[in-house]
Amino acid sequence: MRIVITGASSGLGKHLALGYASSGNELVLLARREEKLEEVAMQCRTRGAKVETIVSDVNDFDAMHQIGQQLANSNIDRIILNAGISVGHSEGVTPFNDFHRLFKTNFLSVHALLEPIIPKMIEQKSGEIVVISSLASLMSMPTSVAYSSSKRALNAYAEGLRYQIKPHGIDVINILPGFIDSEMTQKNKFKMPFLLTTDAGVKRIMHAIEKKKRFYPFPFRFYLLIRTSTLLPQFLRDIIVKFTNFKKGA
Ligand SMILES: NC(=O)c1ccc[n+]([C@@H]2O[C@H](COP(=O)([O-])OP(=O)(O)OC[C@H]3O[C@@H](n4cnc5c(N)ncnc54)[C@H](OP(=O)(O)O)[C@@H]3O)[C@@H](O)[C@H]2O)c1
Repeated sequence: MRIVITGASSGLGKHLALGYASSGNELVLLARREEKLEEVAMQCRTRGAKVETIVSDVNDFDAMHQIGQQLANSNIDRIILNAGISVGHSEGVTPFNDFHRLFKTNFLSVHALLEPIIPKMIEQKSGEIVVISSLASLMSMPTSVAYSSSKRALNAYAEGLRYQIKPHGIDVINILPGFIDSEMTQKNKFKMPFLLTTDAGVKRIMHAIEKKKRFYPFPFRFYLLIRTSTLLPQFLRDIIVKFTNFKKGA
């Protein structure tokens, strides 16, 4: 299987790469930090996988387009759009620059890379496109307006894309994790409910991909709480948010 993973130098992307590293699999790993990416690639090779690394910034859309075109010269069985950043805010108005950065990295970069790949998958009549969204996309908190907005945009993209390309035999899989231990969450200063270890989180993501889940929010208890709160009248939701302890941001 040929699997492309963005954001493979740390956290979920790194552990997904290790999880798929076995003989018979060909991995293409992308991130900016070359040393870390090579370290991951080495570990994957020792597990028997063929590995190619691409050192690039997903915010460079021209580069993403070119990389997408090159990748599409051979079959792509699965692409996991995982590269992402979070910026939390404790108070005041969210700076526009943070919005810009988050939307570029978490949202726009996804289509910059996929645009040349989708026609290849349509020609193949197969393929899996996996996007890593977040439970934060389902409920925007005062400290995560920009992050939640960027991930909610990603949900809308994944939903529409699935309707477009499912008839061609391509699966779009949208994963919405809660808190998972990673470089991203280690900088959070607030208490993270239902925090999962990296291993536990990645196992669930791999399970969802194997089962081709269209929409996979987890952990389930955290999702249920969020989902229930979205069904409440707005004044009750306002009270819940007021008393939720996400005040410090990260
Ligand atoms: N951990 C959680 O609790 C959690 C929850 C929900 C969703 N998520 C999502 O899961 C994904 C992975 O996050 P993580 O927790 O594993 O965080 P992480 O350890 O910080 O990993 C982020 C990865 O994205 C890459 N990346 C960031 N900006 C990039 C850029 N401009 N160009 C190329 N690569 C870039 C990083 O590589 P370089 O820095 O080397 O470029 C790194 O490999 C993100 O999309 C995040 O929003 C995480």
